Amino acid sequence: MGQAMRVLVGCEYSGRVRQAFRDIGHDAWSCDLLPSEDDSEFHIQGDVIRLLDKDWDLAIFHPPCTHLAVSGARWFKEKQVEQAQALDFVRMLMTAPVPRIAIENPVSVISSRIRKPDQVIQPWQFGHGETKATCLWLIGLPKLEPTNIVDGREARVHKMPPGPDRWKERSRTYLGIAEAMAAQWGQAPNN
Ligand SMILES: C[S@@+](CC[C@H](N)C(=O)[O-])C[C@H]1O[C@@H](n2cnc3c(N)ncnc32)[C@H](O)[C@@H]1O
Repeated sequence: MGQAMRVLVGCEYSGRVRQAFRDIGHDAWSCDLLPSEDDSEFHIQGDVIRLLDKDWDLAIFHPPCTHLAVSGARWFKEKQVEQAQALDFVRMLMTAPVPRIAIENPVSVISSRIRKPDQVIQPWQFGHGETKATCLWLIGLPKLEPTNIVDGREARVHKMPPGPDRWKERSRTYLGIAEAMAAQWGQAPNN
């Protein structure tokens, strides 16, 4: 029988990873500057940096990629200060006093400026017929094993109409990936 873990899911407004861990019995909390989309009582609205020393067993972070993603490279010159701050934020998350840490980001300058990711996953390896290279930097955690490899390699997110909420539609963690994280990184307490 596994033990219930204290899990922090930082930079998550959707609640998807937090909920996947709660569904199998863990004491999981999401944190974001924004309120949670599911109005959960297990969401802390505020700066995740203030929660890092609170005795977590596992932390999963989805830091903003706006100034880091290689897809925005044409703006890097004008955004050097913002990029340096974004990298410092990632470094703080990576060096948090937590025994197991995962950082998730698209293909980004984290690879060249901090270190290469341990793994690159795709939604189509976890039940969603879409492509979106997602890098994982792992500390004390095994690589995520694909759970359900499906056909269909559509880059659907790129076709979404522009609008103020487009970034939100694009950045919600895929449910199949959230479930795989919980199943593989959080041994279910009731198993
Ligand atoms: C790319 S989104 C990640 C979304 C996530 N995959 C989800 O499903 O909710 C990055 C998030 O980081 C949040 N954020 C930025 N700085 C933060 C901070 N210091 N503390 C907590 N959240 C922060 C933003 O508000 C944004 O929602």
